[in-house]
Formats: sequence, C-alpha cells, structure tokens
Amino acid sequence: MNTLTKMALGLMGQLKARPARGTTAQSLALAPPGRAGGVPLMQALWQRQSQREFGTQPLSEPVLGELVWAAAGVNRPSLGGRTAPSAMNSQEVDVFVALPSGLYRYDPEAHALRLEVHSDVRGITGYQDFTDEAALDLVFVADHRRMALVPASQREAYAFAAAGAMAQNVYLYCASQGLATVIRAWIDRQALGQAMDLGADQQVLLAQTVGYPKQVPAER
Ligand SMILES: Cc1cc2nc3c(=O)[nH]c(=O)nc-3n(C[C@H](O)[C@H](O)[C@H](O)COP(=O)(O)O)c2cc1C
Repeated sequence: MNTLTKMALGLMGQLKARPARGTTAQSLALAPPGRAGGVPLMQALWQRQSQREFGTQPLSEPVLGELVWAAAGVNRPSLGGRTAPSAMNSQEVDVFVALPSGLYRYDPEAHALRLEVHSDVRGITGYQDFTDEAALDLVFVADHRRMALVPASQREAYAFAAAGAMAQNVYLYCASQGLATVIRAWIDRQALGQAMDLGADQQVLLAQTVGYPKQVPAER
C-alpha cells in the first residue's frame, strides 16, 4: 500500500492489520546466537547504513535468532545483562517482531518469540510502503511500569535512548550479515498501538525494517 493511502486510511481510523499468512506458532524457540562469525566490528561500522529497498525473502531461523539477540538478548546470564544498555538496568523496552505469520514479542530470558497478535501488522509499522513486504519489522515498545525508579519526567527520553542503542545493535548486525535495515519514527502510533493490542502503560517508540536487500536485475 502506498504512503498516501496509508495516511488517508490512518486519518479515517481505518489503517488495519492484514490476515496472518503461513504457519503461526504460540511460541517459537530460536536458535542460540553464535559466538563468532560476521565481519569485524570496524568493517561493520564502515558498512552501516540505512536502506529502503527490500526483497521479500524471510530471514533464515539462525539469522532471526541472532538479530533479536543483537537487539535485546541476554549476554551475561549470571546478571541477566543485555546486549543493549538501559537506564538503571530497567530493561523497559520490549522488542516486537512483526512477521507475515503474526506479531511476536521477544522473550530474552527464554530466547524465544511469543505470539501476541495473530495478524500481519507489518504494513502498520510505518507509513512507508516497503514495510508491507519486507521480511520483518521490529517495533520497540516501552513498558512504563518497569521505570518506577526513573524520574517521571525522564522516562520517555530514557526509553528512546535505550531503543536507539538496540537499533544500532541491529544496524551493526545487519551490516555484518549483508542485510538491509532502516530505523523509523514515521509511524501512525495510534493505529499501530491498536493493532498491537498495547495497554495504557506501553508506548511505541520506534520501528525498524529488516530484510535482504532487493536484488537489482542484472543489465543485459
Ligand atoms: C530517530 C530516527 C528516526 C528516523 N525515522 C525514519 C523514518 O521514519 N523513515 C526512514 O526512512 N528513515 C528514518 N530514519 C533514518 C534516517 O533517515 C537515516 O538514518 C539518515 O538519513 C542517515 O542515513 P544513514 O542511516 O544511511 O546514515 C530515522 C533515523 C532516526 C535516528
């Protein structure tokens, strides 16, 4: 769906999720992340960029597992520490994964995806048309209930900062794996919050599309 149509439907309160496609599971165990592989960090930094042309192929299971682990995984199990920082270690940002088969929430402790909504919400994660068909869209959602120790006036800013750190982890993982990605704030937050069935304490922060780069046909 093109951007203008999305904007018009959003204004009318009619921007809705599509029916889920493919096999939907209540819970998806993910392959454990590797401890090696990818390109050196300096090379990934040289290659980091936003891309907005995506192929439609799904990510392989190992890549999906490493992608969400890069965003928010547990990297120090004895402490429950995560790959991305959070103010006072509040760990207030959840990573949702919008796939054709449904909307899942990443459970870092179990390293698994939990089904939240049995619909394809990819197209509602942003006004740009590529969100509809790229392999997946991540949505970073703050849960304000976990920020009791943070002064109320700072909660939103801290949560955005934490989501930004997660997004940069995803950028570097994508650079390392030859995946395309773009972080996005241009979102109909009301439509997305409704489609995701979020509660009053949950706030959509940012979204990030991830997929294989679109193959450009070879010139003859
Ligand atoms: C907070 C934030 C919000 C952004 N929102 C969008 C967006 O809604 N759509 C989009 O295509 N790009 C978005 N971007 C990506 C920027 O346009 C991109 O990072 C910038 O043009 C620099 O390009 P680069 O990432 O390739 O260096 C956003 C970036 C940030 C940091």
